[in-house]
Amino acid sequence: MANEQRRAAHISGWGRYAPTRVLTNDELSRMVDTSEEWIQQRTGILERRVAGSDETTASMSLRAARAALDVAELDPRKVELIIVATVTPDYVFPSTACLVQDALGARSAGAFDLSDGCSGFVYALSVAADLIVAGRYDNALVIGAETLSRIIDWSDRNTCVLFGDGAGALVLQANRARGGVLASVLGADGSGGDLLKLPAGGSVHPATYETVDQRQHYIHMDGREVFRFATRVMPKATRQVVELAGLKVEDIALFVPHQANGRIIKSAVRALGIPPDRVFTNLARYGNTSSASVPMALTEAIEEGRVQKGDLVVCASFGAGLAWAATAIEWSLPLPVAKPPRRRIFWRRMLYHLARIQSWWRRSWRRAGALLRQLREGEEE
Ligand code: ACO
Repeated sequence: MANEQRRAAHISGWGRYAPTRVLTNDELSRMVDTSEEWIQQRTGILERRVAGSDETTASMSLRAARAALDVAELDPRKVELIIVATVTPDYVFPSTACLVQDALGARSAGAFDLSDGCSGFVYALSVAADLIVAGRYDNALVIGAETLSRIIDWSDRNTCVLFGDGAGALVLQANRARGGVLASVLGADGSGGDLLKLPAGGSVHPATYETVDQRQHYIHMDGREVFRFATRVMPKATRQVVELAGLKVEDIALFVPHQANGRIIKSAVRALGIPPDRVFTNLARYGNTSSASVPMALTEAIEEGRVQKGDLVVCASFGAGLAWAATAIEWSLPLPVAKPPRRRIFWRRMLYHLARIQSWWRRSWRRAGALLRQLREGEEE
């Protein structure tokens, strides 16, 4: 497969988090004019998770990230790069990645958000992998997380049945062993931007009473057109990335597609000729979690033992933009990984408490400094 001795980005840790609140099709059928059968037959979704009022994209990212760092046995202070792929950040700014960086105590890390609809995570993975290959970083944390329930119009049956909340994270580390991220393909067609968007809240339509009244702060989607686009680009991007890696579609041991609609996945898999037992889906339980979909699915597949050392794993996604992305990974870690000793988990928990105290201390110090300056200025006047 890949050339040996080449510096590559290897996946060494993974984690996911899904809120505990389950929203079933039955409940939805009592909220809008739909039925359990329609949702199941047209989408393949049975239920989805909805974040609690105390949960946000950053808090879910943090849980997934900590789990991934535990698996990789990586000290958060050694993380050099944090990318959070999301379309539902906690704030427009500061970035969710900076909030995660602070909460982890990842004091050596640069951090930024990447927004590219449902393709965001695969884009982020590709960026992090390339920076590692270029020698810029050795340790990166790539997260996909969404709180889509906050931008869903719960009275719109065309969209509210599709989406869910959650987070997934991967640790990428530089290594000269065989395998790792072999190739990525990124694509975009902005002419389709109108097909899937959040119309207001940006610089075109800043928030006003009208934008709120007109429900412009929720997802608007032309489902049929997005469906057509998805069934076209998923197989295309998958073929391209496999070819770029110098391999064939038949070599794919596990295909992890964006979990948007069971019919889209079936159509792509049929077009590619991938046997169903080589395809991983968890869509029925989580719905479409946008940027979180691929890392949540990949993590679950790893936990279920669906990946073995030497396997070719391909992840492919599509979404708002319109944008699409695919990545080919040669799995390089023997599985299952041994659970880290309790004392190391305890030590990392202590580090997170310490990070909280340090963050509190820096905030307090800044506030105290500002207060002192004000007092001094008052005295001078
Ligand atoms: N319950 C009952 N009927 C419904 C529902 C519902 N929840 N939603 C739509 N319908 C109706 C429509 O109103 C339409 O009725 P009409 O014919 O009287 O107008 C009828 O069902 C058929 O509508 P279609 O759009 O043709 O239904 P389709 O079979 O295509 O399924 C769906 C709709 C599920 C939205 C599908 O088009 C789809 O999955 N599209 C892709 C969505 C997607 O993947 N989005 C990615 C988002 S990624 C990101 O970046 C956030």
